[in-house]
Amino acid sequence: MKIAMISSECVPYAKTGGLADVVGALPQALAGLGHEVVVILPLYGCIDQEKHRLSPCMEQLGVWMGNTLEWCAVHQATGDGKVPVYFIEHNKYFQRDGLYHDAWFNDYPDNPRRFAFFSRAALQLLRDLYWMPDIVHAHDWQAATAVAYLKVWHWNDPLLAKAAGILTIHNLAYQGVYGTEHYDYSGLRWEHFKPDIFEDHGRVNYLKGGIHFADRVNTVSPTYAKETLSGPLSCGLAPFLSAKGDRYLGILNGVDYARWSPGNDRYLPLPYSADDLAGKAAAKELLQRTLALAVDPTVPVIGIVSRFVAQKGLDVVASALDRILADMVVQFAVLGAGDKVLEQYYGALAARYPGRVGAYIGYSDELSHIIEGGSDLFLMPSQYEPCGLNQIYSLRYGTLPIVRATGGLEDTVEQYDEKTGAGTGFKFQYLSPEAVYDTVGWAVSTWYDRPAHFAAMRREAMAKDFSWEESAKRYVELYRRALEDKKP
Ligand code: ADP
Ligand code: GLC
Repeated sequence: MKIAMISSECVPYAKTGGLADVVGALPQALAGLGHEVVVILPLYGCIDQEKHRLSPCMEQLGVWMGNTLEWCAVHQATGDGKVPVYFIEHNKYFQRDGLYHDAWFNDYPDNPRRFAFFSRAALQLLRDLYWMPDIVHAHDWQAATAVAYLKVWHWNDPLLAKAAGILTIHNLAYQGVYGTEHYDYSGLRWEHFKPDIFEDHGRVNYLKGGIHFADRVNTVSPTYAKETLSGPLSCGLAPFLSAKGDRYLGILNGVDYARWSPGNDRYLPLPYSADDLAGKAAAKELLQRTLALAVDPTVPVIGIVSRFVAQKGLDVVASALDRILADMVVQFAVLGAGDKVLEQYYGALAARYPGRVGAYIGYSDELSHIIEGGSDLFLMPSQYEPCGLNQIYSLRYGTLPIVRATGGLEDTVEQYDEKTGAGTGFKFQYLSPEAVYDTVGWAVSTWYDRPAHFAAMRREAMAKDFSWEESAKRYVELYRRALEDKKP
């Protein structure tokens, strides 16, 4: 199959969260299964063109947006060969430091234009390359209009008409809802501005329109797929997702173990494995030194790596932390950025608890790996979690996750059984400061009082395999079904 993957993020070029990890790895896994894949990304100002060895590929690509003809250029990454990555260069839209927002986390007001343009340009690029896809696979609201354009503008196009449109939703809370003033520019039709397609209380909902037009829609874990068919986690889209019937389902994300594995992690001082944890001890020491924690192998370190947004439950952790630190002998290693109140709280915590809490407020790929490797426990008490990757990385690093049983956290972490010592982590149901306190306490007491169980869980966790191959096969099945439906 020929698959065109359209996304606003992809490692190693542009990342704010797990979407980038997924789009960096899934195409490689699909290529490994024998499929031909291309990835299309915006050329953001923050992408280091020299480092990634981008080369010009098309000087001029004309893209009709409503009545406006926009001209852009296209670059290509020659990096790792198997999966070409194309970058749409349009400085008016993408020559900025942020992907979606400025340094104060204010959304760029022209985001609907930027990403409608990007989605349309991606399809135009396929046409200009004469690259006939079987599958156009769009990710999140930023690319969702690509599957709409496919049906609205390319339904009888000899190059694109046969392609099935797939939409993967990584987070239903981000739907791309904006005023109607951008609608004409997007080139979408007013006949589709109605409540079951793009209209949302008088505004335009780009994700909803994408759901309508996609041949298949999926999200990134089976439990989140179920959770979003009704109730608050659907963020208002339950009726539209339910209407898809069996054309909406959950496929669990995989992990790129080439990047996230203690056996070959370039940021760790020594490689390690379940049979030889000396490297984990070295990573713990490095982490304690890096974040000015007391260097002590006997105290459990609890890691947190997260975007600071409401979804992640870190405000609730904040309400439990003083009690945890008063009652338990533990250390915290925190890495995150986003919400300014949380940034201030966690930033100041290190000064309040010197040697016991270390925090870096900002973005650091290197530190995220050192926290995975050097911590003993990993705290991820999300209100909701479509999949979550850090808890899966944690398993492989023998860093036992403490999670709320929701979405992908429920699907990937197995509850500790205190009788047998089986399980890979510590789960709780309802998000409250008490539940965080109790579950952290349970994990910490396991560290001190049942070390044999802790060691057995670590071994079990490290043996879990969430590699992309299985998930990629599920995507291939999804593609096949979508194509079968399109047969006359
Ligand atoms: P989400 O996509 O909702 O943020 P995931 O768990 O799926 O959650 O993925 C988060 C990804 O982003 C992980 O690869 C994680 O290491 C990374 N990440 C999050 N915050 C930071 C940060 N401040 N610095 C470095 N990496 C981060
Ligand atoms: C989103 C979700 C996260 C998921 C990631 C990759 O950012 O919040 O749970 O792991 O996408 O699919």
